Amino acid sequence: INLPSIAVIPGDGIGPEVVNEGLKIFNYFNNEYNLNFKFEEFNLGAKRYLKNGELIPESILKKLETFDAIYLGAVGDPQVPAGILEHGILLKLRFHFDQYVNLRPIKLLNNRFSPLKNKGVEEINFTVVRENTEGLYAGIGGFLKKGTADEVAIQEMVSTRKGVERIIRYAFEYANKTNGKVTLCDKSNVLTYSHNLWLRVFEEVKTEYPNIKTDHYYVDAITMKMVRNPELFDVIVTCNMFGDIITDLGAELQGGMGLAASANINPDTVSMFEPIHGSAPDIAGKGIANPIAAILAVSMMLEYFHRDDLSEKIENAIKIIIEENKLTPDMGGKLTTQEVGDEILKVLKRG
Ligand code: NAD
Ligand code: IPM
Ligand code: MN
Repeated sequence: INLPSIAVIPGDGIGPEVVNEGLKIFNYFNNEYNLNFKFEEFNLGAKRYLKNGELIPESILKKLETFDAIYLGAVGDPQVPAGILEHGILLKLRFHFDQYVNLRPIKLLNNRFSPLKNKGVEEINFTVVRENTEGLYAGIGGFLKKGTADEVAIQEMVSTRKGVERIIRYAFEYANKTNGKVTLCDKSNVLTYSHNLWLRVFEEVKTEYPNIKTDHYYVDAITMKMVRNPELFDVIVTCNMFGDIITDLGAELQGGMGLAASANINPDTVSMFEPIHGSAPDIAGKGIANPIAAILAVSMMLEYFHRDDLSEKIENAIKIIIEENKLTPDMGGKLTTQEVGDEILKVLKRG
C-alpha cells in the first residue's frame, strides 16, 4: 500500500524551529488517529548552498514529485545574497509544481489581538486567493547598459489568459463553498494591459456564478479598506505581487506574522504548505519564534487531506492557548517556541 507521504523542508533561520512544532502536532495525530502519514526530511537552504552551491538538485526535485504534499518552513539567510534561495528553492517549487493558488486565510482568533479599534473576530475573517505562478514573479526582464549612468532595469509583468482564468475561477469556486463574496483586487486603472485582462476575465467568469456577489477595488484602496472595514471581505482574488503585499498586512490584522499560514495548491500535482513569514534572522536561534503559523499550515494540510475535523481541533487548541496567554514574546507571552508547541499538544491530548 502507498502511505500518504509528506516531504519536509525545514529550511533556514526559524524555519526548522517552527517546523519541529508543526511536526510534533502532526505526529500526535498520526499516532492517535492512525493516519499513517510518513515523513521524509530534505535539507535544502543556506547550509547546503554555502557548502556546495546547490539549491535543489535535480534528483531531489524528481523525488519530491513522488510525495503527496510538501511542508516547508522558510528560506533566506543573511549570508546569501537576497533572491538566490528565495528563487532557487521557494519560487522554484511553486513554479515546478505549478502551484497556481496561494491560499492565505486571514482570520483573527481572539479579539485581544486585533490591531484595529472596534474590529474583532466577526469582522476580521477572509481569505486571499493569490495567483502564484505569474505576474511580476515570472522572472522576465533584464538590464540595459548595466552598470552605467544610463542603466535601465526591466521587470515584466506576465498575465496569461489561462493563468488568470484558473485563479479567478478557483476564487469563485471557493466562495461558492463558503457562501462568500468575491472581490477583485487589481490596478487596472494603471496596468492597462496586464490587469485589463484580469478585469475582463473577472467580468466574464462572474456571469457563470450569478448567485455570488462581487466587487472590485484597486490595490491601494483595498489596503485602506482592509484596515478601515475588514468586514467587507470574504474572498479577495489578486495577482502574485499584490497578494504578497496585502497578506503581510492581513497577517498583522490577524495578530502578527507568527500567526499566518498558507497553502500553495495545484490539485493535480504536489501542493505545499508553509507559514507566510520568512526565516526571521533577527530572532533565529533564540527559541522564541512563534510556531502558530507553522502549526496552522499543518492544519491547512490536514484540511487538504479531507481531515477538516483534525484541522478544526488544531484551530480550537490554538484559540485556547491564546486565551490562556501561553504564548511567545511576539504575542506578549513568555514561552519558548517548544513550550507553545507543547501547550497546544496538551490541549489536544485532553480532548
Ligand atoms: P520575516 O517574515 O522573516 O520577518 C519579518 C518580521 O517578523 C521580523 O521582525 C521577524 O522577527 C518577525 N517574525 C516572522 N516570523 C515570526 C515568527 N514565527 N515569530 C515571531 N516573529 C516572527 O521577513 P523578512 O525579515 O523580510 O525576511 C527574512 C528572510 O526570509 C529573507 O531572506 C526573506 O527573503 C525570507 N522570506 C522567506 C519566506 C519563505 O520562505 N516563505 C517568506 C518571507 C521572507
Ligand atoms: C511569501 C514570500 C515570498 C514571496 C518570497 C520569499 C519569495 O514573501 O511567501 O510571501 O514573495 O512570495
Ligand atoms: Mn511575502
